[in-house]
Order: sequence, then C-alpha cells, then structure tokens
Amino acid sequence: MVTKGNKLYEGKAKIIYETDNPDLLIQYFKDEATAFNAQKKGVIKEKGVMNNAISTRLFKLLEDEGIKTHFVEKLSEREMLVKRLEIIPVEVVVRNIVAGSLAKRMGLEEGTPLKEAVVEFYYKSDELGDPMINNYHIRAFGLAKDEELEAMVESALKVNDILKKFFDERGILLVDFKLEYGRHHGEILLGDEITPDGCRLWDKQTLEKLDKDRFRRDLGKIEEAYEEVLRKVLS
Ligand code: TMP
Ligand code: ASP
Repeated sequence: MVTKGNKLYEGKAKIIYETDNPDLLIQYFKDEATAFNAQKKGVIKEKGVMNNAISTRLFKLLEDEGIKTHFVEKLSEREMLVKRLEIIPVEVVVRNIVAGSLAKRMGLEEGTPLKEAVVEFYYKSDELGDPMINNYHIRAFGLAKDEELEAMVESALKVNDILKKFFDERGILLVDFKLEYGRHHGEILLGDEITPDGCRLWDKQTLEKLDKDRFRRDLGKIEEAYEEVLRKVLS
C-alpha cells in the first residue's frame, strides 16, 4: 500500500502525485483534452476512467511480452501507480500508415500504407510546440545517450509489433502512436500512457477514426469512440 502525497506536476491530461515511497508516483487521468499545443481545449466525458483502463491493459500486455515499463498497478478508476522516471525529453512516434503530420509533410493522402514502420523523434517542449528532431540533435544537445536512444528505438519497434497484432485481432488498425521514455535506477522504462489520446486507431472495416482525431477535427461521437476502444481492448 502507498499513501498519496503532494502534487508533483499537472499536465494537460494527467496529474502526477508523489507517494510515501520515493520510487513510486501516482498518475491521475483527467477528462480534459487539448490539441494543437493546447490552443484547442475541451472535455471528453469519462476519458480519464477509460484511458486508465486502456493503458493498464496495454501496459500489462507489454510487460507480459518483456517490455520494461513504469507500470506497477491500477489503484482506482482514475489512478495508476507507476515507477518514478526522469523523463527523457524526446517523444518517439512510430507510424505504420501515413496520417496526420506525415501526410502533410510528404503531400500524401492519409491511409497510404508504409513499406516499413517509420520512427520519428520530437523534442518535448510545449513552448516550442514539440518540433521534430533527429538522432544528431539528440546527441548534440545531450538529450539522451546513444545506448539510451538505441534502447528506446528497440523498445518502440517491439511495442509496435505487439500492439499492431493485439489491435488487429480486435478489428482495429494501429496507424501511429507516440511513446515517452524515462530513466529509473539506470534502466530505460516506457512511461506516460498508451491511450487513444496518443495513438491513431482506425476501424479495420470502415476506417472510422476511434481516437483523439475525433476531438482534434470536430468529428463528434468522441466518447463513443473511446468506449469502443476500451471494449475491444478488454475483450
Ligand atoms: P502527428 O501525425 O500529429 O505527428 O501525430 C503522430 C502520433 O503522435 C499520433 O498518434 C498522435 C500522437 N501525438 C501525441 O500523442 N501528442 C502530440 O503532441 C502529437 C503532435 C502527436
Ligand atoms: N496533446 C497535444 C496538445 O495538447 C497535441 C495533440 O495531441 O494533438 O496540444
């Protein structure tokens, strides 16, 4: 048992609390949603509850498959116990199908399949709007050591294989997703969350969007989409 302590940090979708154990933190999942670097704000009803449940199932799946994550256990509807990480300020995006910013950058239609998975890095900075960077920037600015970056990429590609198969078996295409990593006693662990906030998930048959793009693009039926993902992830 852990006791909840002071608020350490409040982000756009989660609040992080300290606990009486210096190695453990509590992630509290909020209903608030933002897009376009928080220029657009809103609430997705019960998102926090759904995202905690979805993330819990996916972290358990990944741990079972040998991925090292910060997940410890789900504590309550909106709270997850996690290992304390020193977050590496590099967002790792993995893509299987062209969508979003890649469609724009390459002048391609969304839905174009990729011959192999694409890995991209973004510098985690709200002020700068998370600019895209590459491995040279990561090295030159000392954001992560070479072996840390190698561990992140190896993990991210393995996560992609595991999640792609898991979602495919449930009638969902894993289009792309964003991961964050951190250091914990010398180890690189997968952190943050894995939810429809940070993944693109399309219905395999209809190609209907089941993720935060419904909020970003005002497509409606947002709660229904998250509920469907939750239902399928728990099936
Ligand atoms: P993008 O196509 O906008 O670059 O997004 C790629 C993936 O990363 C998509 O699944 C959404 C996710 N993502 C985040 O989780 N946070 C962000 O700030 C951005 C821009 C994207
Ligand atoms: N979460 C980011 C923001 O608040 C971007 C996004 O997911 O679209 O701006």
